[in-house]
Amino acid sequence: MIRKILCIGAGYVGGPTMAVIAKHCPDIRVVVADINPERVAAWQSGVPPIYEPGLEETLRASLDRNLHFTADVEGAIAEAEMIFVSVNTPTKTFGEGAGRAADLQYWERTARSILQHARGETIVVEKSTLPVRTAEAMERILRNGGGRSRFEVLSNPEFLAEGTAIADLERPDRVLIGGATTPSGQAAIRELVEVYARWVPRDQILTTNVWSSELSKLAANAFLAQRVSSINSISAICEQTGADVLEVARAIGADRRIGAHFLRAGVGFGGSCFQKDILNLVYLSEHCGLAEVARYWETVVEMNQYQRQRFVRRMIRAMFNTLADKRIAVFGFAFKANTGDTRASPAIQMCRDLLAERARVCVTDPRALDSARRDLADAGPGLSFEPDPYAAARGAHAIALLTDWAEYQDLDYERLYAGMERPAFLFDGRNHLDPEKLYRIGFNVYSIGRPDLTSL
Ligand code: NAD
Ligand code: UGA
Repeated sequence: MIRKILCIGAGYVGGPTMAVIAKHCPDIRVVVADINPERVAAWQSGVPPIYEPGLEETLRASLDRNLHFTADVEGAIAEAEMIFVSVNTPTKTFGEGAGRAADLQYWERTARSILQHARGETIVVEKSTLPVRTAEAMERILRNGGGRSRFEVLSNPEFLAEGTAIADLERPDRVLIGGATTPSGQAAIRELVEVYARWVPRDQILTTNVWSSELSKLAANAFLAQRVSSINSISAICEQTGADVLEVARAIGADRRIGAHFLRAGVGFGGSCFQKDILNLVYLSEHCGLAEVARYWETVVEMNQYQRQRFVRRMIRAMFNTLADKRIAVFGFAFKANTGDTRASPAIQMCRDLLAERARVCVTDPRALDSARRDLADAGPGLSFEPDPYAAARGAHAIALLTDWAEYQDLDYERLYAGMERPAFLFDGRNHLDPEKLYRIGFNVYSIGRPDLTSL
């Protein structure tokens, strides 16, 4: 029975996942180690460095009881029986595979550190999303490095979504564990199953070989992203034909074989993983000599970029083909609601595109303004940030809603309208607001894949 767990990497995955494991396994000592001392200090203070509904309560339930955070990664490795590796695996920006392959430098550094400092028998669990056959590479490093320990490597990808991380971890659709078919591999799988079985029904804990597990994670994200690109492609047809994408999504989603989830048309998917993981799949396909397969998945990313550009072009056209010196209030910068995360957010490129048109862009967001400032630090003049949406819209020619924050549905749009230039435009990039109501107030309303409501 495992009694000491370590997680290397205290980010969006490591922190929440370990908080939930610690909550359900009071008899297991859970340590989370990270090379970033500020992150560690924030977690250890009980105020997480990331925003996630319900996280703070879950963290505090176990903090300093059986859950601890540390910057002493090496010391923590020496103590652990099971080590989750949850470090970042961004897209490579240099050398071979740049722009597509995963950058495994953080991951490999971790593997070497484990090799050097682990003692006794250690189960290493890949939690990060990794290219297929990475576990094998990890095992080679660990087996042939001349260390003193014996290792078993498992793949246990994470499926949580940001904004709902705690709910997803508490009630996952499934937990996936991949391991070797050898007796020691199977024994390691059983150890990890016993951790999750404290709160996840056993029939929802799937065990597979390592490569199926690694590939399933990439495939799951690719399928989800593909649905978003599919509905976005349909939204473009809707705008040309008078069909309404919400009605189409409801009609096709009612077919149980298709299902209703992930059919919300918008300005495209963002977040740290969808694009990265699809590009990883593309790279893998090319590596396997499967050019057609690579091309197929690449179009999902292309459609995503097209959707963003299309939205900005529509704004330009609607506003008489010029945005120069017009003030545009951007409502929402996070890549989705209920997170302060802006990694690969559609808003980043869209704000840059608006600034390139010489618009004056004022960004507002309830949680992501600090990140937005960092993301657009080099974007030049014409850009401002404003926590209050009413102040952001004052004197604006248009509002562009890019994140579906619930609070944007509760704003007083009469008041917003009163402070804006005429004609006032509202571009709803998430089909989040009631277009009829806004039109009655006086806005010219443009939604995604829905008829324009304009008095011009
Ligand atoms: P993150 O950047 O938020 O966190 C990674 C952490 O690892 C950082 O705090 C970093 O300081 C730390 N780190 C890097 N190298 C280290 C080292 N050598 N030793 C100790 N700590 C180190 O990343 P994340 O969003 O938590 O993602 C982690 C992995 O999980 C990625 O592979 C990602 O694809 C995957 N994933 C993410 C999500 C998500 O919603 N964010 C969901 C499922 C899977
Ligand atoms: C996604 C997956 O949902 C998780 O299962 C996975 O673990 C995670 O990626 C990961 O590997 O990082 P996340 O990116 O946090 O989670 O959020 P999603 O809810 O999937 O949304 C991703 C993007 O797609 C957001 O920008 C969202 O606005 C957009 N989206 C989503 C749409 O435009 N339409 C939809 O119908 C659904």
